[in-house]
Amino acid sequence: MIDIFAQDVLKGLSAKNKYLSSKYFYDDNGSRIFQEIMNMPEYYLTDAEFEILSMQSKQIVEALQFSQPFNIVELGAGDGFKTFKLLEYLSNNKIDFNYVPIDISREAIDALTQRLKARLPNMSVKPQVGDYFEILKQNKKSDFPSLLLFLGSNIGNYQEDKAIELLRLFNENMKVNDKLLVGFDLKKNPITIHNAYYDKHGITKRFNLNLLLRINRELDADFKIDDFDFYCHYNPLSGEVRSYIVSLRQQDVVLKTLNTTISFDYNELIWTELSKKYNLEEIGELALASNYKTVNNFLDCKHYFTDSLWEKV
Ligand code: AVI
Repeated sequence: MIDIFAQDVLKGLSAKNKYLSSKYFYDDNGSRIFQEIMNMPEYYLTDAEFEILSMQSKQIVEALQFSQPFNIVELGAGDGFKTFKLLEYLSNNKIDFNYVPIDISREAIDALTQRLKARLPNMSVKPQVGDYFEILKQNKKSDFPSLLLFLGSNIGNYQEDKAIELLRLFNENMKVNDKLLVGFDLKKNPITIHNAYYDKHGITKRFNLNLLLRINRELDADFKIDDFDFYCHYNPLSGEVRSYIVSLRQQDVVLKTLNTTISFDYNELIWTELSKKYNLEEIGELALASNYKTVNNFLDCKHYFTDSLWEKV
């Protein structure tokens, strides 16, 4: 029996317009390359959200209007770099809460828990590894109110219908008055966005081509990385950055595990990622479409990014 990754790769590479899902970028190597992306000066998203959580944690916490104690449940906590600022504010102000970071990577969660124990020893941390919805279902039974965090513009990697589906699923697993803080990258000067994704260091290119290395390793394939390139394009009207891998020649690639050969034309594309940018009006519409009321938008000083606070109605 072939696993989900293998099935998805087969489906995507057999399609008329080839595609691979960006969720598969994040093997160990891909996660490390993503850290490099977040450290690039051109990738403004991380700094902007860090500024919001550094400067406005007090306002965010006040806007929750929660009785204490409450839960903070972070979906896809990763290295927890930005969230630390919010947790630090709460701890320093002796606010009573439990932090529940969720991630699919045991390694990431263990490292995060270790770091938090060292830096905020009095904070209650209840780390969880696994499926978001199972854990959220359990959390719904808690006597305490919850704030869910979905930061870093992760929502931008979903097409609109899938984004609504995901946000509704979060909603179904929340109690009335629970809150959700979602990170959105905002539309801005297109050149700023272009430079964040089509970076001159070639790190985003490496991030994309790593997916072919992953397929080589996990599905016994023979992609020749030098025969592929990276291209991405920002459309300021739709707010979409679309990223592609480009075949630099006519070539056949064998995927032994799948018993398949995939043919590529000269300059044929594999669509790998959507990174959608929003304006505040579109964010409001998305909140409504997924059954939330917008409480407030917390923006950085350049208005590059917002952490949008929503309430389940
Ligand atoms: C994880 N995600 C929000 C990133 C983004 O901006 O879409 C992934 C990324 N892709 C290229 N650079 C960063």
